[in-house]
Amino acid sequence: MSKNIIKRVHARRVWDSRGRPTIEVDVTLRYGAMGRAIAPAGASTGAAEAVELRDGGASQGGYDVLGALGAVNDEINTALKGMDVRDQAAIDRMLIELDGTENKSRLGANALIATSMAVAHAAAAAEKLPLWQYLGPFGGGSAGEQLPLPEIQILGGGAHAAGRVDVQDFMVIAVGADSFAQALDWTADVYRAAGSLLADSGRLQGVADEGGFWPAFHSNEEGLEILCRAIEAAGRTPGQDIAISLDIAASEFGADGRYRMVLDDRELDSDGLSGLLVDWVERYPIVSIEDPLGEDDPEGLARFTWAVGKRVQVVGDDFLVTNADKVLDAAKRKACNAVLIKPNQAGTLSETKASFDAANDIGFGAIISARSGETEDATIVHLGVGWGVKQLKVGSFARSERMVKWNEGLRIAEAISSASGDDLPLDGTLPPRDAFPWK
Ligand code: PGA
Ligand code: ZN
Repeated sequence: MSKNIIKRVHARRVWDSRGRPTIEVDVTLRYGAMGRAIAPAGASTGAAEAVELRDGGASQGGYDVLGALGAVNDEINTALKGMDVRDQAAIDRMLIELDGTENKSRLGANALIATSMAVAHAAAAAEKLPLWQYLGPFGGGSAGEQLPLPEIQILGGGAHAAGRVDVQDFMVIAVGADSFAQALDWTADVYRAAGSLLADSGRLQGVADEGGFWPAFHSNEEGLEILCRAIEAAGRTPGQDIAISLDIAASEFGADGRYRMVLDDRELDSDGLSGLLVDWVERYPIVSIEDPLGEDDPEGLARFTWAVGKRVQVVGDDFLVTNADKVLDAAKRKACNAVLIKPNQAGTLSETKASFDAANDIGFGAIISARSGETEDATIVHLGVGWGVKQLKVGSFARSERMVKWNEGLRIAEAISSASGDDLPLDGTLPPRDAFPWK
C-alpha cells in the first residue's frame, strides 16, 4: 500500500548527553506518517563493533558528524526512496550493501542505525501503533506483554569517569520486585541512599557519564561495600530483594592477559583478575558480571564461566559486539552465557535482532542496552518489549537521557495492561524469575 512507501529520509545534526554532535533521522512516508530516531555513542567501545563516522579535524574536537549526515541526506535518501517501509530486512540489506564495508565505516554506523530505527518507527506510525506493539506479534512467545527487568547503575567508573575507579559499572537488579514500577521504586531508594552514604563520608566526587555517582574510593571493592550498605539503608535485603551486577569492561584497563587496576595498585594476569572476581562473587550478592576479562581473552572468559557460570550471568559486551556469529562462537567455546544487545554496535535493526535470536536459540541470556552517550531517544525500550528481551540496561537513575527510557517503560506498562483487557498489573509485568540464570 502506498501509505507505506518511503518518500524522504532526512538527517539533521543534534546533540547527545556528552554535548557531542550526533545524527537524528526522519523517515517520512507518502501520506505523511513519520518515524524518527537518534544514534547513541559509546565511549568504552569494543574493537569489533560497527564504526561510527566522525569528521575528525578541528570542528567539535573531531566529533562532528557532517559526513554521516551527508550520507543519509544523499546516498541513503536516494536508495530508500520508494521502498516499502514494512520490509525492514530489505531496507537493512540495502543499507549494508550501500555502505559496502565490513565495519560500516564508509557511511557510518551512526548514519545506518539512526536510519534503520527511524524506518521501524515510521512503519509503526503508518499502522498508528507504538513501536513495541508493532514489533510485538513478530517477537514470538510472550513478547509485547512483559517489561524487561531493569539493571540500573548506582556508581560509575572506568572510561565514564576518567578511569579513577577501574570497574566501569556498579549496578543493582531488583530481583525480588513484583513489577517494573516496583523495581524502579526500590532502585530510586538505593540510589538516594548511596548518594547520602558517599556524601556523608566525603567520598562523593560527582556524577559519571551515565548518571551514577562518581566516588573517590581507595579500592574497587569499596564499591561493593557501599552497594550493600545502600541496599540495606533503603530497607531491602541484599541478594534477596536487590542483587548486585557489575560491568568490569576489562578491555579498558587490560590487554594480552595483563590487567592494570590503578585504584588497587596491582597488575593481574587473566587468572588473577578472574580469581579476584570469583572471590567477590563468593562474598557479595553478585548475580551478573559483564566483560569480566578482555575481549581478546576467550580462553580466560571460558575459565571464568566454567567457575561461576552456573550461578552468575556472564555477559559479553565488548567481547560479542551484538554480533550473531560471535554469540554462536562464544556458545561453542562456553566463553560466557549472556549477550549485551546494543543496536549501534551492529549498525542495523535486522542484525541487532539476529544477535538476540541467536542468543535465544542457544539459551544465552540477553540484555538490551543504551550507550554512555545518549539522547531523548527511547527506541531500545520499545525493542525490548516488542522483541521480548528480558533485561534492560540504560545507565543510572538520574539525568533525562536515562530517565526517558525508564519513564517510557512505565507508559508502555500502562498501555499493555489497558490494551490487554485482562488483569495484567498497571505497573508492568516482569519475566518470571526462572527466566534468569541466578534464579
Ligand atoms: P559504552 O559503555 O556505551 O561507553 O560502550 C556501556 C557499556 O560498556 O556497557
Ligand atoms: Zn559494557
